[in-house]
Amino acid sequence: MKKLFVEQTIDKIGQEVELYGWVDSKRDHKKIVFIDLRDRTGIVQVVGDEKFKELNSEDVIFIKGIVKQRPEKLVNPKLKTGKIEIQATEVKIISKAKPLPIPVNTDGYEIDEEIRLKYRYLDLRRPRMFNNLLLKSRVTTFIRNYLTQKNFLEIETPILTKTTPEGARDFLVPSRLQKGKFYALPQSPQQYKQLLMVAGIERYFQIARCFRDEDPRRDRAYGEFTQLDLEMSFVDQNDILTLTEDLFTQIVKEIFPDKKIQQSPWPRISHKDAKEKYDSDKPDLRKNKEDKNELAFAWIVDFPLFNEQTESDYFHGSGKAKFAPSHHMFTSPHPDDVKLLDKEPLKVRGLQHDLVLNGYEVGGGSIRIHDPNIQKKVFDLIGFSEEQKKQFSHMLEAFTYGVPPHGGIAPGIDRFLFTVLGEPSIREVMAFPASSGGKTSVMNAPSEASTDQLRELGIKLTTRHSGER
Ligand code: AMO
Repeated sequence: MKKLFVEQTIDKIGQEVELYGWVDSKRDHKKIVFIDLRDRTGIVQVVGDEKFKELNSEDVIFIKGIVKQRPEKLVNPKLKTGKIEIQATEVKIISKAKPLPIPVNTDGYEIDEEIRLKYRYLDLRRPRMFNNLLLKSRVTTFIRNYLTQKNFLEIETPILTKTTPEGARDFLVPSRLQKGKFYALPQSPQQYKQLLMVAGIERYFQIARCFRDEDPRRDRAYGEFTQLDLEMSFVDQNDILTLTEDLFTQIVKEIFPDKKIQQSPWPRISHKDAKEKYDSDKPDLRKNKEDKNELAFAWIVDFPLFNEQTESDYFHGSGKAKFAPSHHMFTSPHPDDVKLLDKEPLKVRGLQHDLVLNGYEVGGGSIRIHDPNIQKKVFDLIGFSEEQKKQFSHMLEAFTYGVPPHGGIAPGIDRFLFTVLGEPSIREVMAFPASSGGKTSVMNAPSEASTDQLRELGIKLTTRHSGER
């Protein structure tokens, strides 16, 4: 195993070191050849002789050499390792590199995104992208430690499952064993996390992959993204907000020390006030929007439980329905408003909470319904047919066997990072995102299935699509 990262050479003056990495650049001065050797931690200058002439950018090499202090006037203040250089005594090319189709020593914004995604494994070599992945890893590690200390259990829930409506289209996966039937990929672990509360887990979290077939936007990934999904029993809404607020405050302190949280505790704004005052349910509350280090968190609460249903509501009921859930169908009505459910449903407030940051919705959650009768009533109000209700009968049944009051939240990890870093697109914080046209990076899925695969699944395509085998 490689023992030393490039950056760790800084305090090894006078010592012999062995380094592995990529040739970032080469400067040929006839008898002396300089290269910048790069690994994930940075760059160090290596001084070599004629043997270095055969090195090309992006070759993977091994270097043995002595760490030398640079004379004062040759110090490069732009590099962390700028005070030293390596005097090479040995060099080995481990693997040669062809000229790359895209540069990797720029920030990459200038390159066409389709090409960046096609060569994502090269695109990720650029320090900016590595740093984004590093920060994401640190955020999830921090979350795991924080919640584990607070007695949360990390539990995986199925990816092959049944529809979990969150307002987008489902991805369907055909079943081979039960021909004509389909799994749906979960839009979130919503039902499972509630079932885990029925199971007595009390505090659950998961760094959960969610799948939604919806049009991508700057802040919305196509296909899949990651949530910190969490759920707790025996809590009120304030408990969820307080815990989440403390967690994200600590994350900012630890991992983004340059960022400043504008106001603590975070303001809690009713949905009505937000709409009236800012004409938005995710207002950008930054006082100075030019300052890239300003973080204006806020909670939006007291949402209406229902909106009027529109044609574009994807998970509408069978037709007669007038109402669509503002969050999702498991959100509890405000206890004071339950009496309005029958007569004036649009006046009912829901126990929903949205986490807003700099004008983006970074998380959403709620206290859930745990009374099967209220859940049935909500199903009726959104116009579920008997058939649609049957899809969720397991929830109603589960709630008859002793269900604790429960609630939770799901901050989007990618969206949080995208917002904090001020990236132009959420794809900048994802390792292998799909393109806006829905093609996966590098592998270019989706692709055709063979006639044999389709036959095995009992599927016959009605139209011939280009490229079909
Ligand atoms: P919701 O649908 O509001 O709630 O999603 C929660 C958070 O997930 C993130 N998010 C996305 N991030 C990137 N790309 C997307 N396409 C995308 N869609 C959503 C956002 C959003 O705020 N089950 C409920 C949570 C709960 O009730 O506990 C849910 O998924 O940051």
